[in-house]
Amino acid sequence: MKIMSGNANLPLARAIAGYLEVPLTDASVRRFADEEIFVEIHENVRGEDVFIIQPTSFPANDNLMELLIGIDALRRASARRITAVVPYFGYARQDRKPGPRTPISAKLVANLITEAGANRVLSVDLHAGQIQGFFDIPTDNLYAAPVMAADIQARYGNEDLMVVSPDVGGVVRARALAKRLDNAPLAIVDKRRERPGESEVMNIIGNVQDRHCILIDDIIDSGGTLCNAATALLEHGAKSVAAYITHGVLSGGAVARVNGSALKELVITDSILPTEASMASDRIRVLSVAPLVGEAIRRIADESSVSSLFD
Ligand code: R5P
Repeated sequence: MKIMSGNANLPLARAIAGYLEVPLTDASVRRFADEEIFVEIHENVRGEDVFIIQPTSFPANDNLMELLIGIDALRRASARRITAVVPYFGYARQDRKPGPRTPISAKLVANLITEAGANRVLSVDLHAGQIQGFFDIPTDNLYAAPVMAADIQARYGNEDLMVVSPDVGGVVRARALAKRLDNAPLAIVDKRRERPGESEVMNIIGNVQDRHCILIDDIIDSGGTLCNAATALLEHGAKSVAAYITHGVLSGGAVARVNGSALKELVITDSILPTEASMASDRIRVLSVAPLVGEAIRRIADESSVSSLFD
């Protein structure tokens, strides 16, 4: 087995390689003067089972291109099997046509990864499970919920918890987390988005009075959804509000928004390399998915069950 990394999240790749006790494959990525990306693998990978780790987070297009070029380099170097390990799958929110004459970019990205030469894909908390169907190659979608549930249990024990979905679309994810927390009760924020990029909280479905609310979502981007949800929950009598979000996209002024919000804590994972601003925030904590991804890689290489990781 070989583990190769792009530049999007080297600390995560090193942690995964550490978990698997294999060194990172010696490769380098260079730029031409016009910003073209050039990948060079400095060791033999012929006949190897290679896992290339690269979340397609900010800068999304550069990181995606680096992944595609890395896969191409591996294919031309005769790797036996190439698994694209994309802990955060960028473009996933463009998984349907929101209106006439619009693209389904998540499908286009899936096509690009496949055409580049990937034989398998491994991701974490895809925005929508159906994105697996955009690939005609085996795709494993890991869940960060077990990592989050362990942390929540350690922090809150048997306190009065309530799992909250920040929108109707996230109910399945929230219910799955609630089940892991001894069937904690569930509430839903009924959010209406009037304009793209803006979110507005309308209603809370469920009684959150005197509960420690745990908001769960796959992505925090601008932070609008969560910060508004936290305010609404406190207005409805919640004792405290924390958020557990797999992918800390945290664009623009999101960290400042979180710092100034009613959220007690935002817990994200290292699927995306945390920015300096989020590392400096005393409101943001990072859990690692390296053991989860590392274990999945080990099982894929051994051809043993990956789904049993979710038990
Ligand atoms: C949307 O469907 C996602 O699950 C997140 O709720 C959304 O991307 C969060 O965006 P923001 O932080 O910009 O409100």
